[in-house]
Amino acid sequence: MPPISIAIDGYSSTGKSTLARRLARDLGYIYIDSGAMYRAVTYYALSNGLLDEESAHKPLLDSLDHIDLEFRKAADGQQAHIFLNCRDVEREIRTLEVSRYVSPVAALGPVRKKLVALQRGMGQRGGVVMDGRDIGTVVLPDAELKIFMTASPEIRAERRYDELRARGDQVSYAEVLENVRQRDHLDSTREISPLQQAEDALVVDNSQMTLEEQYGYVRELVNQVMAGI
Ligand code: DC
Repeated sequence: MPPISIAIDGYSSTGKSTLARRLARDLGYIYIDSGAMYRAVTYYALSNGLLDEESAHKPLLDSLDHIDLEFRKAADGQQAHIFLNCRDVEREIRTLEVSRYVSPVAALGPVRKKLVALQRGMGQRGGVVMDGRDIGTVVLPDAELKIFMTASPEIRAERRYDELRARGDQVSYAEVLENVRQRDHLDSTREISPLQQAEDALVVDNSQMTLEEQYGYVRELVNQVMAGI
C-alpha cells in the first residue's frame, strides 16, 4: 500500500502534536507541525516590531518574503525542529507571549497563503502526518485519514499550564485558560480557513482518555484505512 496522508486538526492543546509525532515515528512518516510555522512567523514579527494593528499588520505583510521556514533535525539529532532563517527557534515559539499574538497573525490572508503553499509542498508525496487547524479542510483535503481532536477548555488549559511550568515559565492557570478560550474563539471565527471539522473527519474527544487509549484508538483507524476498510 502506498504511503497515506494523515490530517490531524483540532483545538489548541488537545495533544495533536504528541499523537501526530508518535504516529509519524511508528509509520516511518514525516511529521509536520503547521502550528509551529504560524508561531515562527509570529515570533519573527514580535522580535522585529512588525505588528501594527492599525495598519492590519502591514509591516509584517511587507516582510513575508524575508521569512524562511524549514523543519530540520535539531542539534541533538532527535526530533525535527523549526528553523527560522536558519536558526532553531523551537523553544522561543512556545512562550505564552507568542501564544497571545499567534491567532491574529494566523488570521492574515497573505500569511496563510504563504504557509499553506509551503505545507502543501511538504505533504505532496504522502507519507506525512500533519497537524493544525485547516489541514483536513484546506491543506490536504484528499488526506486518506482525517482526525478532529477536542477536549474541554479546562482540561486543555491544565495540560498547557503543566507544560509551561515544567519548563520554568512563570504563568498562572487563569491566564493560560484565558488564552486557550481566546484562541478557540479567534481560530474558529476568523474569516479565512477557520478551525472547522472536515465533513469526513473522525472526532476524537480525549477529555477522558489516557494517551495510550487515544493512541490505540487512532492507530486502529490507521490500520483500517491501510487495509482499505
Ligand atoms: O497548534 P498550535 O497551538 O501551536 O497553533 C498555534 C496557532 O496557529 C493557533 O492558535 C492557530 C494557528 N494555526 C492555524 O491557524 N492553522 C494551522 N494549520 C495551525 C495553527
